[in-house]
Amino acid sequence: MNLSIQLAPKNKHGLLLANPVMTASGTFGYGTEYSHMFDIQKLGAIVCKGTTLEPRDGNPQPRLAETACGLLNSIGLQNIGVKAVITEKAPLWASWRVPVIVNIAGETIEEYAQLAGELDGVAGISGIEVNISCPNVKAGGAEFGANPDSAAAATASVRAATSLPVLVKLTPNTGDIAKIAMAVAEAGADAISLINTLKGIAIDIAKRRPLLGNITGGLSGPAIKPVALYMVYEVAKAVEVPVVGCGGITTASDAIEFIMAGASAIQVGTASFANPRAPLDVLEGIEQFMEKEGIKDLAELIGVARR
Ligand code: SIN
Repeated sequence: MNLSIQLAPKNKHGLLLANPVMTASGTFGYGTEYSHMFDIQKLGAIVCKGTTLEPRDGNPQPRLAETACGLLNSIGLQNIGVKAVITEKAPLWASWRVPVIVNIAGETIEEYAQLAGELDGVAGISGIEVNISCPNVKAGGAEFGANPDSAAAATASVRAATSLPVLVKLTPNTGDIAKIAMAVAEAGADAISLINTLKGIAIDIAKRRPLLGNITGGLSGPAIKPVALYMVYEVAKAVEVPVVGCGGITTASDAIEFIMAGASAIQVGTASFANPRAPLDVLEGIEQFMEKEGIKDLAELIGVARR
């Protein structure tokens, strides 16, 4: 069976994944945190935590709240900063079989470009995921992803600063995600990943106050899967570039739904918190499904529900 997928067919480096199962940024650390639990080299790709120019401590606690079938987070892009990613993480990634993609988040267009420029050509880094979708920061993040012009501007600045494959991660907190996707593809994205979290809130009724330190957060987990699936369905219809589906994927059948809706690859996110092996379980389940259905190539399944 062929599960491999090329996520950046027009890029000179390409981004060939051995299979479609990726980890979602912010749910799998830098990969090393999970490597003692299962063979992470079997995955299609690892996407690391959102990375900024300078290290960040993130938002005030509490930063997590469980909801029915979901999780609200307001981490606020806590991370070690791009220099530490390059010096402390990339050298190890360079020895890995699994490609690592660095998720980047800027407060300005110039910061996105600077981040992309610093990561360009660093051994161990196979691609960049441009985060224009974080709902938990005061500047940047979802602000850029909410309209086609700013989304395109952030994408174009990254495109100009690096020859690495560029994925752009979209926010669902916008009017017409397909329009944003088209703008981003036009601006030079090699692939589009979606969705990031849906903006939400929880109230602590004993304190009569919002539960999260930052008041609002981003909702992920199974609760958002139908929304994410719908958006992937719409975006895959609108763009030619590969689409990476993300949002509540917990099982292989969830992943297959996204692939049938048009995703070329998928990201497992919140599920890893409950079951660290979730990405591998999803991969094994996809393999079993293909074997049972007599499918020789994953490409046969991509977008099949839309034909
Ligand atoms: C966060 O760090 O607040 C979440 C990251 C994201 O939603 O992109």
